[in-house]
Amino acid sequence: MANVAVIGAQWGDEGKGKVVDWLASRAEIVVRFQGGHNAGHTLVVGEQTYKLSLLPSGVVRGKLGIIGNGVVLDPQALLDEIARVTAQGLAVTPENLRIAENVPLILPLHPALDKAREAARGEDRIGTTGRGIGPAYEDKVARRSIRLCDLAEPATLSAKLDELLLHHNSLLRGLGAPEFAKQELLDQLLALAPRLLPFAEAAWERLDAARHSGARVLFEGAQAVMLDVDHGTYPYVTSSNTVAGNAAAGAGIGPDAIGMVLGIAKAYSTRVGAGPFPTELHDEIGRGLGDRGNEYGTVTGRRRRCGWFDACLVRQAVKVGGIQGIALTKLDVLDGLEELKICTGYRIGAETLRRLPAAMGAQAAAQPIYETLEGWSGSTRGARSYAELPAAAVKYVRRIEELVEAPVVLLSTSPERDDTITLRDPFAG
Ligand code: GDP
Ligand code: IMO
Ligand code: MG
Repeated sequence: MANVAVIGAQWGDEGKGKVVDWLASRAEIVVRFQGGHNAGHTLVVGEQTYKLSLLPSGVVRGKLGIIGNGVVLDPQALLDEIARVTAQGLAVTPENLRIAENVPLILPLHPALDKAREAARGEDRIGTTGRGIGPAYEDKVARRSIRLCDLAEPATLSAKLDELLLHHNSLLRGLGAPEFAKQELLDQLLALAPRLLPFAEAAWERLDAARHSGARVLFEGAQAVMLDVDHGTYPYVTSSNTVAGNAAAGAGIGPDAIGMVLGIAKAYSTRVGAGPFPTELHDEIGRGLGDRGNEYGTVTGRRRRCGWFDACLVRQAVKVGGIQGIALTKLDVLDGLEELKICTGYRIGAETLRRLPAAMGAQAAAQPIYETLEGWSGSTRGARSYAELPAAAVKYVRRIEELVEAPVVLLSTSPERDDTITLRDPFAG
């Protein structure tokens, strides 16, 4: 099967956008299957930098983009993003963007609830993006969501808003936050309807047709395995399944169509928001990684926490995420460091483990066990062939392959689209 699914193997921001954009030159369709505008994917193409949150990264190459049913869609955020990329010279129309008609919508009450809850949690906050992602997924499983297709049925929409508001206004009242008026929401949604409905379709039919015609599909994950609602560092996670298995359910196609699962991992680790991070560095080295890697959240603007590469955690992500090959990014950020550390396991009390356990207390207590490798004085920045890499950099990559138990098939050496080294073609399976 010549399709590829791209997922994050750490805590997000590994460079999925860059890799999807690079691979998209050889795909016909790029599908987002989970998450929402909590994602921030940066693509650098020559002089232009595109920051995408909801639009599948293939739009930059003019490929057909599909927003699958597994996404939670903020209509206003989508229209704003379309306006932003249009101003940069891209065309996004119903010709090249299709949205699953059964996608659940994020309404203004979702970010309101997200923020009110985070404020109420105080010191214990999760550090969400505040964009209503969690509350929107809660409504989906609670069977309360307004879905894109509802915008075509004003009577359905009106009745569903009554139920939604009964729930949300009770919660908002309890949290001391302002309530929402039904008529205002109804008017807003009905005004958005003619702008959104032209994009809506039964996306599964298009994907089925693609399967039969042999068109290549790229499934673009957001967030990452350690933010997966089941397999991540719960409760410090996002509210969707980020593993490749969800690409099928979130797009509306069988699991055999997913194809090769490519996990994206940074050559070190970062995390935005709160939660366990065993290899986090609070010293000059950590600050240096943040500065050289320009580690600021695309969505939140918050400085990302930085640390050493955690091979134990990426190995776990490889197993639960179904990752068959790794794209290792940001190798250049390690240039000039005298020595490098890789975490191979954890000490938790008297125990030594080669996995991060599920319990919160154990996760917080996990102390990394490190292996030290030699750094390199040469530059990897902008390298486009393996031969250009210093020997110690090659050694570092090889050791990562061994420890995470998956081959490194791509290497990225700068934000620029073409500064990428292919070791094995992901579309070859
Ligand atoms: P995503 O959420 O996984 O798509 O990643 P983000 O776009 O949020 O964050 C990755 C950041 O690293 C972006 O600013 C990219 O432009 C940048 N980037 C991607 N690959 C590389 C690389 O190999 N080297 C460097 N220095 N930066 C990179
Ligand atoms: P991309 O696709 C990094 C984090 C938030 C927070 C937690 C829950 O760019 O890799 P949410 O708003 O989803 O309820 O927040 O998840 N988070 C991300 N961190 N990259 C992302 O996306 C993220 N999306 C959510 O910081 O800790
Ligand atoms: Mg990001």
